[in-house]
Amino acid sequence: MYYSEELIEEVRQKNDIVDVISGYVRLQKKGSNYMCCCPFHGEKTPSFSVNRGRQIYKCFGCGEGGNVLTFVMKYENCSFPEAMKILADKAGVTLPQAEYSEEARQKESRRKRLLEVNKEAAKFYYYQLRTERGAKAKEYLDKRRLSEETRKNFGLGYAPVRGGELLDYLHGKGYDDDLIRAVGLAKTDEKRGTTTQFWNRVMFPIQDIGGRVIGFGGRIMGDSDSGPKYLNSPETEIFDKSRNLYGMNYAKSTRTGNIILCEGYMDVISMHQAGFTQAVASLGTAFTPGQAGLIKKYTKDVLLAYDSDGAGVKAALRAIGILKSAGMSGRIINMSPYKDPDEFIKNLGREAFQERIDNAENSFMFEIRMLEREFNMEDPEQKTNFHNQIARKLCDFSEDVERENYIEAIADKYHIGFENLRKLVVNMAAKTGGYAVPVERPRSGVQSRNKNTPEESAKKVQRLFLTWLSDYPQLYPKIKNYITPEDFTVELYAKVAQRMFDDIEKGSLNPAGIINMFEDENEQSEAASLFTTKLPELDNDTEKEKAFNDILLSVKKNSFDYYSAKSGVDITALGKVIEGRKALEELSKTHISLK
Ligand code: UTP
Ligand code: MN
Repeated sequence: MYYSEELIEEVRQKNDIVDVISGYVRLQKKGSNYMCCCPFHGEKTPSFSVNRGRQIYKCFGCGEGGNVLTFVMKYENCSFPEAMKILADKAGVTLPQAEYSEEARQKESRRKRLLEVNKEAAKFYYYQLRTERGAKAKEYLDKRRLSEETRKNFGLGYAPVRGGELLDYLHGKGYDDDLIRAVGLAKTDEKRGTTTQFWNRVMFPIQDIGGRVIGFGGRIMGDSDSGPKYLNSPETEIFDKSRNLYGMNYAKSTRTGNIILCEGYMDVISMHQAGFTQAVASLGTAFTPGQAGLIKKYTKDVLLAYDSDGAGVKAALRAIGILKSAGMSGRIINMSPYKDPDEFIKNLGREAFQERIDNAENSFMFEIRMLEREFNMEDPEQKTNFHNQIARKLCDFSEDVERENYIEAIADKYHIGFENLRKLVVNMAAKTGGYAVPVERPRSGVQSRNKNTPEESAKKVQRLFLTWLSDYPQLYPKIKNYITPEDFTVELYAKVAQRMFDDIEKGSLNPAGIINMFEDENEQSEAASLFTTKLPELDNDTEKEKAFNDILLSVKKNSFDYYSAKSGVDITALGKVIEGRKALEELSKTHISLK
């Protein structure tokens, strides 16, 4: 759905940011701002600040920031159009209806029908669990110690022995066999006619992220019952197993800042019952990149609570690889001496599990620990082999500092000797073409990163300049002859500068509107931080003036260098160079006063 900029602005302006955020969290007035503990990361002292004048918010702890629309998107975990809808409804603004093509409309209406069938089936199973016939299933759930609230929350049910009853029920509601087959609840063959997928099983409705029932899992109740332990719906038009996660409809709105990935439905359910509502599981198939993508919309911090058996370890190692490719980090929860989270929590309780979460193992260390199991350390040859394999894995880190830190940690843990392991890695990198290891060991991570590259410095002064100007818009007339949006070599800053200059010309600087220009959340945060960064506390006006003049000159100087470097290949750059030299000369003779 596309909304015009005017409409977005209207919705934004009709929703005061302090009022809206107050509807979600308790704000306290502090000076000209409103503060609270950040809802987007765990903290004990408030660093989340809302500014009514500027209609923006910013967390100084985690960097999250934006306008009222960004906030709703983030807090409700919803898309931009959904946030627009929420805020438009609040303010009584009518949004235009999307125009669907005939084909899209039909597809949508079929989808709706299929979801209805599933929902009715879930209701049917749910009801059966509460009848005489469901007694055995009820007994089973009692044995697994699931509370009534949990059963309700997850819509657990029971598929009776005679499948025909479900068919009769659904027919009675007006759904024909075609639809019932299309959701995978029944199939038809010549010999047996139409039969249902599930019978005599405890039923787990599988919900998508919006809580719609898209499929089912069914578990046998006794070990002697026939068929697989869990039977799932097949993939259908509405059931894509690779893009959904069990429990995600609840996990998406927990505020723990992480997601716990488990192997089974029962694990998810008992974790939620114990208060770990960030638990999810894949749907009877291995974890997929599509599922990683789904999680990544909410967090990059994933904890793995896979079974501690061989298959579980293998699945965890695979999941780690998938998470890594998606740019996410995985940590592994140690479940021993129990097999899975369900058993762990039943035996040791929630506090003990929380402890395991807090002490979850870094995925690299886990990988190496699992690798170790494959070698006999008593045998010198195998031991060497193990060390070589470690070195090979260490070559995969492209960041020097990160790799050095891991060399140190591994050397320490496996008593290898830092220099020896390092040499091994250098040799391995030379042999296999891995990332080269610097000859000199960086002294400390912080130091080696602190030295800004020219690009970083340029970025910094451009950012500072915009922050200054947003604090002192009255300076604009004095500088407008020297500086243009093209002087901002960082694309986002160029866009912001253009809009800021226009706004100031029109007499109304509008930070929230500027943030709206960006769709990407990171860009919105970055733009927001321009208006919320605190300028250095300088003693007096003379110092302030000096700082501002320095920054102005640096921005211009950087732009001059940038276009000079490009002028050999880019004709328009030459014009900028000539203009820039003139401006620089003038600027070096001028002093801009802040008054
Ligand atoms: P587990 O057998 O580890 O499940 O299978 P669990 O949750 O510990 O089962 P309980 O505690 O005995 O009830 C993990 C997941 O693998 C899928 C299911 O999605 C299950 O939740 N699975 C397992 C199947 O699809 N079919 C099976 O036969 C077994
Ligand atoms: Mn289990």
